[in-house]
Amino acid sequence: MWKGRFKHEASELLKTYTQSVTVDWRMFRQDIRGSIAHARALAKAGILTEEEFGRIESGLKAIESEIASGTFPFSDDLEDVHMNIEAELTRRIGAAGAKLHAARSRNDQVALDFRIYLIEACGEIGGEIRSLQRSLAGLGSRHAQAVIPGYTHLQRAQPVLFAHHLLAYVEMLDRDFGRIHDCAVRTDSMPLGSGAIAGSTLILDREAIAAELGFSRVTTNSMDAVADRDFACELLSALAILGMHISRLSEDIILWASAEFGYLELSDRHTTGSSLMPQKKNPDIAELARGKTGRLFGNLIALLTTMKGLPLTYNRDMQEDKEGVFDSIDTVLATLAIFSEMIDAASLREERARSAASDPLLLATDLADRLVEGGVPFRQAHEIVGKLVARAQESGVPLNRLAPAEFLAASDVLTPEVVAATFDLESALKARRAIGAPSPDNVASELARWTSQLG
Ligand code: ARG
Repeated sequence: MWKGRFKHEASELLKTYTQSVTVDWRMFRQDIRGSIAHARALAKAGILTEEEFGRIESGLKAIESEIASGTFPFSDDLEDVHMNIEAELTRRIGAAGAKLHAARSRNDQVALDFRIYLIEACGEIGGEIRSLQRSLAGLGSRHAQAVIPGYTHLQRAQPVLFAHHLLAYVEMLDRDFGRIHDCAVRTDSMPLGSGAIAGSTLILDREAIAAELGFSRVTTNSMDAVADRDFACELLSALAILGMHISRLSEDIILWASAEFGYLELSDRHTTGSSLMPQKKNPDIAELARGKTGRLFGNLIALLTTMKGLPLTYNRDMQEDKEGVFDSIDTVLATLAIFSEMIDAASLREERARSAASDPLLLATDLADRLVEGGVPFRQAHEIVGKLVARAQESGVPLNRLAPAEFLAASDVLTPEVVAATFDLESALKARRAIGAPSPDNVASELARWTSQLG
């Protein structure tokens, strides 16, 4: 491709070390679509005849179906997917193929292909996020009345509806969806025509190329267009955050599925056994998802580090941009798909969860709230109830089983009627009816909202 200037063949080690085709061959569809749009613009500008354009277009389409069917002979003697396709096209159709690269550099070509690939991946990931949201809302709806203890510091804190806990993840995933969508919107800018760095003296209709490829706009600075990879960093960052959310969900699932918690039942199809211990039923999917989050974070840091010291514009370092991005896309797509399936087949042991949530200590704050309603300042109320908790623990009785006289000694607000009403789990949940709190009515309408929104 550049043999004019060189007297000697490249070293074999150089070829192996610098090739990227083993990674970037995945962009063949995007490369071919981009080349057809570029060729059409060359024909419109009079640089190709209509007949030459026709040969290029059908040659590229034939190559595309051979790559798709696995019969195309990629060679790593040719650096990347772009050179493999162009060389094979020229071998097949001759002179017309050799005209295709006019007014184009691999720098704007690779920026184009990578942008198209990422925009498509964003759409696919968005679809998988929606289906995991549906699965979580579905599990919540199958156990719409179920109660579990909510935790802070992994200590039992307050009772919540199980569905409320699941809908917290639906909300997180919704912001992940938004971040990935935003990333696609910013990536949607067509870089072809930027050339190697400074455009070309051969003028092509960039707007028409953008329209043909489905872009909403064209890039407006040729140096920026070939130099930056912020769109890839942005996707990696959104995928790292998504991974962090899925890793937390994994952790909840792993805890809930343990004998110690015993709330969640995973299906046999989504658990594994032990080669040694016959009794084991392990939540490996969630563990692996938690483990794979490491690569999602690593891929982001790797690309940021690759980019941070580079002078404008293209530097060969940037060829390292794709492998981590493809890995993060693959990892996230696989994780989202298997999580949907696992959650669709999971169920809550409602009795066990409710009995854990019925620990009266979880309503200690509610008791303090009754004192506040009776005019006691909250800090004082907190201390009064704290002392009652200590007394109950010393005498080995549940908080609600302290003698009526002990409650009354603490405050005359705490009559037997008030105490009994406060420790009723159903009324305690019903009382949490501010926007965003888990009263059964609120949770039912949130479940209905998400179910209809997610379709
Ligand atoms: N294989 C290169 C990459 O993926 C293509 C761009 C090469 N451009 C260049 N001037 N060497 O980044």
